[in-house]
Amino acid sequence: MTTYPPPGVHKTVTQTKFDCHISALTAAPQHQGVQFVTGIRIQSVTKRFGATPVLRGVSLDVAAGEFVALVGPSGCGKTTLMRIVAGIEQADGGGIAIGGRDVTRLRAADRDVAMVFQSYALYPHLSVAENITVPLAMRRLSAWQRLPLLGRFLPGTARAAEGMARDVRTAAEALGLRPLLDRRPAQLSGGQRQRVALARAIVRRPSAFLMDEPLSNLDASLRVQTRREIVEIHRLAGAATLYVTHDQSEALTMADRVAVMQGGELLQVATPEAIYADPVDLRVATFIGSPRINTLPAETGADGMVRVAGHPVGLWGASPGPVTLAIRPEDLLPAGHGLPALAEAVEFLGESLLLHARHEATGTPLVLRLPPEARPDLPASGSHFHLQFDTSRALLFGAGGKRVGATALSGEAVLV
Ligand SMILES: Nc1ncnc2c1ncn2[C@@H]1O[C@H](COP(=O)(O)OP(=O)(O)OP(=O)(O)O)[C@@H](O)[C@H]1O
Ligand SMILES: [Mg+2]
Repeated sequence: MTTYPPPGVHKTVTQTKFDCHISALTAAPQHQGVQFVTGIRIQSVTKRFGATPVLRGVSLDVAAGEFVALVGPSGCGKTTLMRIVAGIEQADGGGIAIGGRDVTRLRAADRDVAMVFQSYALYPHLSVAENITVPLAMRRLSAWQRLPLLGRFLPGTARAAEGMARDVRTAAEALGLRPLLDRRPAQLSGGQRQRVALARAIVRRPSAFLMDEPLSNLDASLRVQTRREIVEIHRLAGAATLYVTHDQSEALTMADRVAVMQGGELLQVATPEAIYADPVDLRVATFIGSPRINTLPAETGADGMVRVAGHPVGLWGASPGPVTLAIRPEDLLPAGHGLPALAEAVEFLGESLLLHARHEATGTPLVLRLPPEARPDLPASGSHFHLQFDTSRALLFGAGGKRVGATALSGEAVLV
């Protein structure tokens, strides 16, 4: 399991001069003293719109070189958080540090972040190359040097322009835009325009990248391809990347860590593997994974045994009371005995198939993911069968939705 910060790479130093006590991400001493490295620190950020709290004390660190995906349902506050990190929106409380600097009170332009949002805007009258150059010119040239006619004759302009052209070519190369540098945005496909927006973000080599659903305008195959490119660019740039998506499969495939947000709160921040197999909250368990994790109402008795509709399931709960038993679709299997269920329908997905069923006693809908070879042996629609599951992979959640401890009868697959 990945720990954060990775041992020996970063340590946290508290900068008490900042009233919000933002500490910086630092690297191990290299040649002289301690060097600050890039990274994003979001500390106890709160935000209300009118009377409605939208962010309820959000804290999250993204280390230099780390890719964190922020996922959550629509309206949970993802864009608001990104806008606060970028400096476009003011937080009501808390602070932001980027690259080891407290930027809470700095303007967006002074924060050393690059943003790619879903609704990116390109300048329609400029070529691709000029569009990518704009953010560089804003930083590297003075207002006089940027004047269209006079600027080129001022000292330093030619050298700066050469450097910018080189950086634009490198960024364009990374995104396969070299053949398109002379085109106007109207002469590009949606996917190509998206890449120009990405190139414009990476060309400045910022400390931090903020990307808010940058692929949502692309079709499925281009999405998959561009996903890989974004991860590759992130690796090359070595910056901290915070990437918003509401597509949980995108988060699991791209990120070093996934942050799951709901109702303005971070519920869990962990590696994709831990988020999937070891969720701490029922809302995380149900949000991550497709098809959704199966949940059955259950009860831990005074004897510690977990029962579903009175049926012991080979699990022991930490304390008596009502619980939710959660089992991933791939961990449920049809069997000769176990929990009685009613088969409803089969869906063939190519690499696997889904058996839709219903737990008889409670009427709870259930989904089983099985290998395609299992098809001839599946119960026919409308027929009764039984279910078993590997108790070592089952999860228990208490009445408040928080994960509670469970002990399996053994690590082996156990029949219920
Ligand atoms: N300027 C604003 N004024 C009032 N309410 C706002 C404003 N901006 C956002 N909100 C509200 O704050 C909540 C969070 O919005 P936000 O855009 O951060 O959600 P999101 O997680 O990015 O959703 P989505 O996945 O749909 O993009 C929503 O209920 C939204 O209606
Ligand atoms: Mg949003």
